[in-house]
Amino acid sequence: MTPPSLLEESLSPVLQAVAREARTGLTATPKSLSPWLFYDAAGSHLFEQITQLPEYYLTRTERSIFTAHADDIIARAAAASPHPATLTLIELGAGSATKTGILLRAAVRQQGTVVYQPVDVSESALAAATENILTNIPGVTVRSQLADYTTQPLPEDRLPNTRTLALYIGSSIGNFAPADATQVLVNLRSQLQPGDQLLLGTDLAPSSHKSPADLLSAYDDAAGITAAFNLNLLTRLNRDLGANFRLANFRHQARWNPTHSRIEMHLESLARQTVVIPANSTGPTLTLHLVPGETIHTENSYKFTATAITHLLSPASFTPTHTWQDPQHRFAVTLATAI
Ligand code: AVJ
Repeated sequence: MTPPSLLEESLSPVLQAVAREARTGLTATPKSLSPWLFYDAAGSHLFEQITQLPEYYLTRTERSIFTAHADDIIARAAAASPHPATLTLIELGAGSATKTGILLRAAVRQQGTVVYQPVDVSESALAAATENILTNIPGVTVRSQLADYTTQPLPEDRLPNTRTLALYIGSSIGNFAPADATQVLVNLRSQLQPGDQLLLGTDLAPSSHKSPADLLSAYDDAAGITAAFNLNLLTRLNRDLGANFRLANFRHQARWNPTHSRIEMHLESLARQTVVIPANSTGPTLTLHLVPGETIHTENSYKFTATAITHLLSPASFTPTHTWQDPQHRFAVTLATAI
């Protein structure tokens, strides 16, 4: 008999999405799983640890760009409006909003006050972001929204006489293949007015300043935290779906794919093995066969040139107006105007 926890009535919307994703990805050739599955409680904690690793330069580099240029970023965003207006900052996928605080402080300095609207699928992330901002930055009004920004509309209740500065930072857009990334930006643009702004954070492609080896070590750190983050996905499927993945039979793998300018993360099967996911409301029992060396592709992280950033923005009717990079040219923050 099916365990009660997996009966149709008892599968929560999140568990149903996990089950559907596992069914689709693991019956495909080659096998894949979507990176949103990383972020259960343990995975979110591991990601926080990743952001502090010596090899993972992305988070601290973007933060250093904000620290150096927050006043310029906010001044340019406000000045680009066709008429004088105060800025409302809407953040897509807010997470814990630690870097955002730097921009909010600059907005308060320049405007006296600012409205901050974080949008996230995680209730606990929104609560943490709200708490963090309210206790640390006087002058900010927080209106959080629980939503999936890739499909759901942004908050409609924007104040009159304000301009929106949409924040899409942290190289989050890098998880999407180009066509999907364009779709996310088109969806965003459709909810903005001409003159509204987008601040986009992107990791840069290899150049004379950065080698593929630098990128690879950012996704395959010496302490093994990224490996644990990747393998935690299998722990999640075991817990959420009653699957029987044996973690010792898999190994974390990071690859640089120069054709697509992306880091790929995979879980490599170390043995000929069979994995069973019991029947649930999304379908019958799933029996997976893996051979040694076969991989489950778990993430793409696209890396951009300046040209690629422009090509990402223009089909969504955004024109880049200014880009800031760190002195080592590892990361880019681009301000773009909705046209
Ligand atoms: C959160 C998508 C920006 O692609 O660098 C970190 C996720 N994966 N280490 C990234 C991640 C492995 C991260 N993003």
